[in-house]
Amino acid sequence: MKILVIGSGGREHALAWRLVQSKKVSRVYVAPGNAGTHQEEGLYNVNLQSVEEWVRFAKEEPIDLTVVGPEAPLSQGVVNAFRKEGLAIFGPTKEASQLEASKDFAKAFMMRHHIPTAAYATFDSATLAHQYIDQQGAPIVIKADGLAAGKGVVVAMSLEEAHEAVDHMFGGALGGAGHRVVIEEFLQGEEASFIVLSDGENVCPLATSQDHKRLQDGDQGPNTGGMGAYSPAPVVTPAIHAKAMRQVIMPAIRGMKAEGHTYTGFLYAGLMISASGEIKTLEFNCRMGDPETQPIMMRLKSDLVEVLEWAVKGNLDQVQLEWDRRSAVGVVMAAHNYPNTPRSGDVITDQGKDDQDTHVFHAGTGINEQGALVTRGGRVLCVTALGDTLRSAATKAYQRLECIDFAGKQYRQDIGWRALKN
Ligand code: AMP
Ligand code: GLY
Repeated sequence: MKILVIGSGGREHALAWRLVQSKKVSRVYVAPGNAGTHQEEGLYNVNLQSVEEWVRFAKEEPIDLTVVGPEAPLSQGVVNAFRKEGLAIFGPTKEASQLEASKDFAKAFMMRHHIPTAAYATFDSATLAHQYIDQQGAPIVIKADGLAAGKGVVVAMSLEEAHEAVDHMFGGALGGAGHRVVIEEFLQGEEASFIVLSDGENVCPLATSQDHKRLQDGDQGPNTGGMGAYSPAPVVTPAIHAKAMRQVIMPAIRGMKAEGHTYTGFLYAGLMISASGEIKTLEFNCRMGDPETQPIMMRLKSDLVEVLEWAVKGNLDQVQLEWDRRSAVGVVMAAHNYPNTPRSGDVITDQGKDDQDTHVFHAGTGINEQGALVTRGGRVLCVTALGDTLRSAATKAYQRLECIDFAGKQYRQDIGWRALKN
């Protein structure tokens, strides 16, 4: 089989790396990919950037199955376009991916289907939003309605910060994404990423994970796309797992079907779990998480191609995933000045080597004119390792990371700290 993976991040590197290990696969193409997918055996980068180009390539090659990494192509309708041509693809349609593409859609949907989430109000103008903030008080959370590449959420600890965020978004700082704003109740607790596969009807949960959204140790500094992740997340006890399936995932899948937007693909629920074990849905993403995918793929033992084939055929009820019982930790190495204006072009050196239990997944990397590996974006690498315990997985990941260097590198020293503390 020939597989196409759309995207260029660490998530796509990890997916492609796992897919190419399937006995059924002869080639995995990554469009457009990065320097890591270029170097990996069995993976081939193809420099294609639009829905039309992906469709044409998939028809010509021909590609047997396409997997979409990021949200942007999904909300552009890549799944609709592939299906129209009779091409197999795993992901939600443009209509179904509104669950991520519009915060207002997601909130109203959760209300309609009694999915637990923070109280909220939606605003199309700044004046009413400012009034609402004054009524509600701080802390309070301001979210741009549209896709904003991880920059659309401000957790405001003061009224001043909240008002500033509203002005910033309505002022056009996030383009069209901020012309409508959702303001929501501040929730406390521990976050977890709960990701499942769905064929529209049946659901197959992946291993649980936890991301680290803040730039600096101890969850300080600005929000980022994610600075590291580990799997499993002990905060998701069997009782919480059952509750998440019952209260969040199944109502979402049934609700989307009932509303005529049958949901196929990865569905990611960001959960806030309170000390008393209550869960609330922070957000839905219509794709896998980045960097959650990297540790999750390290632990997946089942043949991912087979699983996705079952999913595309609507037979997920017959799938039981097999996981490595060990823990996996992924530590992101980010570029100088990430997340604001990351610097590109710093030469990356690596004195180490991956082994069975470690893998360095690339994200923002490229090859310069002299043939050297260089930084090409905010999150550069995700150094991932398996270990018998979370602690040993973290130790191995950091040992591997010590071998890698580039000017301005930033990484957190404390990935996994919440679980390690307990
Ligand atoms: P989102 O993209 O909606 O998941 O928001 C990004 C991050 O902002 C989340 O991972 C949380 O850390 C934080 N966040 C979002 N909504 C809330 C909320 N209602 N209360 C507290 N923190 C939140
Ligand atoms: N790591 C968070 C996300 O992928 O949205």
